[in-house]
Amino acid sequence: MSSIIILILIIEFLISNHILRGFKYFVNHWTIKNNLELQMIDAGFGIKRGNIIELPKIVLSFDKDFKSGRLKIKNALKFDKKLDDTVLSSALGKYIVERHYLSDDNNYYIYELIDGSVSYRLIFNSSDTFLEYNNKISPYKLFLDGRSMVKLQHTILVGMTGSGKSYSLYSLIMQMLNKSVDYNIHFADPKGSSLAVIGSAVNSEQTYVDMESIIEGLEEFVERMRARKPELKTLLEDKVDADYSDFGMTPNIFIIDEYASFASVLASEDKKTRDKVKALLYEVILQGRQLGFFVFLVMQKSDATLIDTALRDNIPLKIVLGNSEQQTYVTAFGAGVDVPNRHYQTGEGVFTEPVIAPEPKLVQFPFLDFDILLFCKRNARDVITGVPEQSTEKTGKAVDELCSN
Ligand SMILES: Nc1ncnc2c1ncn2[C@@H]1O[C@H](COP(=O)(O)OP(=O)(O)O)[C@@H](O)[C@H]1O
Ligand SMILES: [Mg+2]
Repeated sequence: MSSIIILILIIEFLISNHILRGFKYFVNHWTIKNNLELQMIDAGFGIKRGNIIELPKIVLSFDKDFKSGRLKIKNALKFDKKLDDTVLSSALGKYIVERHYLSDDNNYYIYELIDGSVSYRLIFNSSDTFLEYNNKISPYKLFLDGRSMVKLQHTILVGMTGSGKSYSLYSLIMQMLNKSVDYNIHFADPKGSSLAVIGSAVNSEQTYVDMESIIEGLEEFVERMRARKPELKTLLEDKVDADYSDFGMTPNIFIIDEYASFASVLASEDKKTRDKVKALLYEVILQGRQLGFFVFLVMQKSDATLIDTALRDNIPLKIVLGNSEQQTYVTAFGAGVDVPNRHYQTGEGVFTEPVIAPEPKLVQFPFLDFDILLFCKRNARDVITGVPEQSTEKTGKAVDELCSN
C-alpha cells in the first residue's frame, strides 16, 4: 500500500515539474521553483495552517530555449504590497526579473524572466556588417541591441565615465547617418572631446564646443522647429494623429554630451541667458515629438538639479549604463522601480521606454570593432570643412584616443 502512495507521489512530483516537456525542463523547473519556495518561506510569504506552511500558488514556465520565462504568483490580500515590492531575482538562479505587473483580473502577479547570462549584444567587426544590419531597420527607428528597437525620440543617456556612453551614442549616430531619410544632427560637446571629433567629421557647422555657439545652435534648431509647425499643420488637415515621419520629413537631433558640464557653465551665465536656454530646451522637449525635433542628453549621473521631473517625464527614452548609484536610477526612472540586479559590463545597462520597456529592461549596446571616425567621415552628408577652430587642440587628442581604440 505504502509503496503505491510513494509511487503516486513520485509521479505527482515529476508531472508537476513538467517531466513531459523533457528532462532539462524538469530540472530547471524543479530547482528554481524549489529555491523560490524556500526563499519565499524565509521572506515570510508562508501562512501556517496547522502543521503545514502554505505558500501562494506559483506557476513557472520557460520558453523553448530557456532564455526567458514567466512566473506567476497568486496574489493575496496579505501579500499584495509585499509581492509588488519584493526583488525576486536573487531567488531565481540565473534568471532575472525584467518586468512585473498584476494580471488583468488582479489575481496574479506576473514576472517576466530572462536568463541573465544570455547576451543580446551584437558584435560588428566591420562597418559593412553594421550597415547590413542597419539596412533592415526602418528609417525612423533605431536599434539598441539584438532585441530592442525603438522609435526615434527624446533620449537621455546616463552612466559613469567608462560605462560606454560615447560608444553607444556613436552606434546610434552611425545608424542615423545611413538611413533612407536624411537626419540632421547637431553636436554639442562642451568638453570638446570625442563627440566634437565625430561631429566635425559629419557636419562641422553644426558642431559646437563653447557655450556661446551651443546656445546659438540651439536657437537655430528651435527656429527651424517653429518654421516646420505651419507646414506640418497644413499636412495634418488631411491626416489626424500623424507626425513628421508620416510625411517623410527629416528628423532633427540636438545632442549634448557632458550635459552636466553644460549645465554648470550655464549656471554661471546671467539669469536672462539661463532662462532662455531652459525655455528653448523645454520647447523642443514638449513640442518636438510631433515635429521631428529631438534632444539627446548625455551625462554621468542624473540628479534632480540637472533634470527636473517635468523634463524627465517628457523624455521617453532613458538609458542608464553600467552600475549606477540608486540616486541615478531614481532620478532617471522615478521612485520604486526594480532594476534587474547584475554586474553590467561596458555598454550594458537598463532602459525604459513607454512602448517596449515600461519597466527597466536590460540593454547591451553593440560591440563596435572598426574605425568609427572613418565610418562617420565616409558617411557624412555634408562637405567636410575641417574641425572647429576653438577645439583644435583638444580635438587632436580625442582623435588619437579614438584611433588607438
Ligand atoms: N560598444 C563598444 N564597442 C567597443 N568598445 C567599447 C564599446 N563601449 C565602450 N568601449 C570601450 O570602452 C571605452 C570607454 O567607453 P566610452 O564610450 O568612451 O565611455 P563613456 O563615454 O561612458 O566614458 C572606449 O574607449 C572603448 O575602448
Ligand atoms: Mg564619453
